[in-house]
Formats: sequence, C-alpha cells, structure tokens
Amino acid sequence: MSETNLKDMQDLVSLCKRRGFIFQSSEIYGGLSSCWDYGPLGIELRKNIKDRWWNAMTLREDVVGIDASILMHPEVWKASGHVDGFNDPMVDCKECKSRFRADKIDLAANCPVCGKSGTYTEPKDFNLMFKTQMGPVEDSSAQVYLRPETAQGIFVNFLNVQSTMRKKLPFGIAQIGKAFRNEITPGNFIFRTREFEQMEMQFFVKPGSQMEFMEQWKEIRWNWHLENGLRPERLRWEPHGPGELAHYADAATDIEYQYAHGWGEMEGIHSRTDFDLKQHELFSKKNLKYLDAEDGNKKYLPFVIETSVGCDRCLLAVLSDAYRVENEGDKEKERTVLKFSPKVAPIKVAVLPLLKKEKLAAPAKELFNKLNKKYPAEFDVTGTIGKRYRRQDEIGTPFCITFDFDSLEDHAVTIRDRDTMVQERVSLDKVEQYLQDKLQL
Ligand code: GAP
Repeated sequence: MSETNLKDMQDLVSLCKRRGFIFQSSEIYGGLSSCWDYGPLGIELRKNIKDRWWNAMTLREDVVGIDASILMHPEVWKASGHVDGFNDPMVDCKECKSRFRADKIDLAANCPVCGKSGTYTEPKDFNLMFKTQMGPVEDSSAQVYLRPETAQGIFVNFLNVQSTMRKKLPFGIAQIGKAFRNEITPGNFIFRTREFEQMEMQFFVKPGSQMEFMEQWKEIRWNWHLENGLRPERLRWEPHGPGELAHYADAATDIEYQYAHGWGEMEGIHSRTDFDLKQHELFSKKNLKYLDAEDGNKKYLPFVIETSVGCDRCLLAVLSDAYRVENEGDKEKERTVLKFSPKVAPIKVAVLPLLKKEKLAAPAKELFNKLNKKYPAEFDVTGTIGKRYRRQDEIGTPFCITFDFDSLEDHAVTIRDRDTMVQERVSLDKVEQYLQDKLQL
C-alpha cells in the first residue's frame, strides 16, 4: 500500500467544500476574498480544537479565562502601538494601480500584474487595522477599531481579574476570540485571512523570572500540538533574532508547521516584558501595579509570557497533517482519508445498515441514537456500503459500524477501523465499551 501526503492546497480546499468543512464566504455572490465559512464538520473540528486548547489552558490552578469585547476604547490601540506601528509599507504600480508590499516586491523589476516596466509610487505606510464607526454620527470622534489581536483585552483587564479572582503571581489569563487585520496579501486558504480567531494566553510573572516561564510554556505548547495528532517532523522552532523582535518583546520564538505551501508560523511565544501594562498605565493614568504581599508589599508591573496561536492556522495544520491518499492512481484501491486523531475528529462513529430495508435500518437507528447521545455520530443508509465507507474516510470518522442480516441473529455488528480497514465482529452489548477503549477521548 502506498501513501501520499497533501501536496497541493487546492486538493484540501476541494475536499473541505465537497464534504462540508469549509466554504467560500458569500459564494453565491461570487465570494468575498480571503473570507471563509465553516460548515457543519468544520465547526465540529474547530470546536474540538478550541475545547482542547481551553481545557489545556484553564484546567490548571494558575490560569483563568475571560471573553473581552471586540470593540475597545480607541486609546487602547494608541497605547499598544497599533495606531502608529501596525503598518505595512505599500507601493502602487503607476500603470495598473495594483498595490504591493514594498518589502515583498523587487522594485527594479517589471510589475508582476501588468508586466509593464514598473514605476512604483513611493512606499507609504498602510495601517492593517479595520476602522468602523460607533454610534449614529460618522465623525472621527466615534471611530473605533476591530481588534487586531485579542491580547489587549487581557492586558486592560489584568487588575480586574487579579483582584476578583485573588490571584497571586505567577498566573495567566486565557481568551479565545476573533481578530481582524486588513492583510495586504491574504491567501493560502485559511492560513492568512482578514478575519480569524486567536487563542491567546498572557502569563504574568515577577520581573526577572520571565525566561524560566518562557521555557516552561514552550514545552507545554509544543506538546499540545503533538497531542492534536501533528507529526513531529512537520513542526519546528523559529526563534526571532535580535533584529526581528517585535517592539514589545525581549525574546520570541514561533512554532512553525510545514503546510502544503511551505513552512509557516502557527503559534508565537513571546516574552512581552512589562511593555503593555506600562503603556496602559501611561495612557489610562490608572495604577496597574501588582502588590506583592509575599515580597515585602513591593509594587511593580509584572512581566508577561504570551502564547498566541491562530485557531484557523492550527485547524489548517490538523487537516493538512491528516490528509492522505492511499494507492494513488489505482482506480480500484485509491482512497482519500483524513487520519485525524480521534480527539479532534468531528464525527467519532458512523452507523451504516447494510441495506435501507426497515428490518436492518430500524435496529441500526436504535444503536445510532444510543451512541449519538455520547458522541457526534452519523447514520447513513444511502449508496453502496463501499461508497459510504469512502465518505466516512474522507471526513475522518475513526470507526464505522455495519449492521447486517447476521446482526439480527447473533446480536453483533462489524466495526471497521478507518486507518487499517480491519473489521471486527463485536457483540452489540460491548459496542460502547469497545468505542470508549479505542477512542480514548
Ligand atoms: N498577540 C500577539 C499576536 O497577535 P501574531 O504573531 O501577530 O501575534 C499570533 O499573531 C497568531 O495569530 C499567529 O501565530 C497566527 O497563528 C495567527 N494569525 C495572525 N495573523 C493571521 C491572519 N491574518 N490569518 C490567520 N491567522 C493569523
């Protein structure tokens, strides 16, 4: 048996559409560039990833969660540096008016769109934040931004959370939520989009101890990706050199994944110093200092270790990693299969009566109803059993249960393993235990 990995992102895009994972946004109107809608299976997969992140982060004594609003006071973004510094330098082709990032294009070469000998405008900064109007009056005083990162919602709530939850350092605040960036060059499916979801955690520590905690969180985050089923050889660290550090960081490293389009950042782990809290103190004129009762009632601004992972990039990695084509080119034996870890698989089990006939369908439905109370499950009677297996393979269902004529006599069913395609006969009263042991959720 031969096995091929995902080579072309387009194969994944079409599988995602064909099987109800991800659709182009506003497709019937011709689509909206770089915006995507998650379908029924996509949303289950995404929910599993978010739940796993949330549980890994907050089922600990030292991390609590929040959900801050997307629209924040505009001063927040001045304090954070986004109003002045969240820019890409842009140039326009004077011939065809196409716009490019000045640092990503050879300004001496012809325009890659119209092919004319490029005369470009002078580079001009373009701010990536989406602006919108708050209230009925369209003047600049009511101008607000769609948040470009969720992190600032955590920083401005640092003291609220610390005091209400009576937290002592070190402790963290976790959040999952949408972020928006008017990216110049979105693309590669859901890798770079203008609306995306982040899963971020700020861990507040005593100044001087940040490197120790950075190392701890690096290990935790790396292992979390492995537990989602990603292959270790497709992950790598990408440390930021001194010249590459963001203005707020004294150390930073990314976890990169080898996507079909190449290596790309999936998660950033940053030592953000006390930059953000200091800025919010300055701009809000509120004292945000932590009172350290265990260290002579000293007052200071904590340092911060941030872990920030894009939910959509994580989901793209999980999908890409799971994607395999077996026996490619062999008409009889070729199959496309998503080899998800059962922990993230959107559907855990499918019940397939061999025939539509009521005699088989009714008891099979009874089994499905029982299992579906515990797991997301599917019941499918349409098409040949082979076709139904192929569909379940393509959506990554770990187990298929077939109810056949023998089942009426021996009160047993056939359970097929997605990866090995091995089939086992299991007594009906043992099915639940069998699944529990195998799925290991
Ligand atoms: N709070 C820190 C922060 O926002 P970032 O490196 O700009 O840092 C963190 O973003 C993560 O958010 C990235 O590692 C990536 O997974 C995700 N992300 C950033 N921009 C994105 C985009 N345009 N589309 C999808 N995901 C994005």
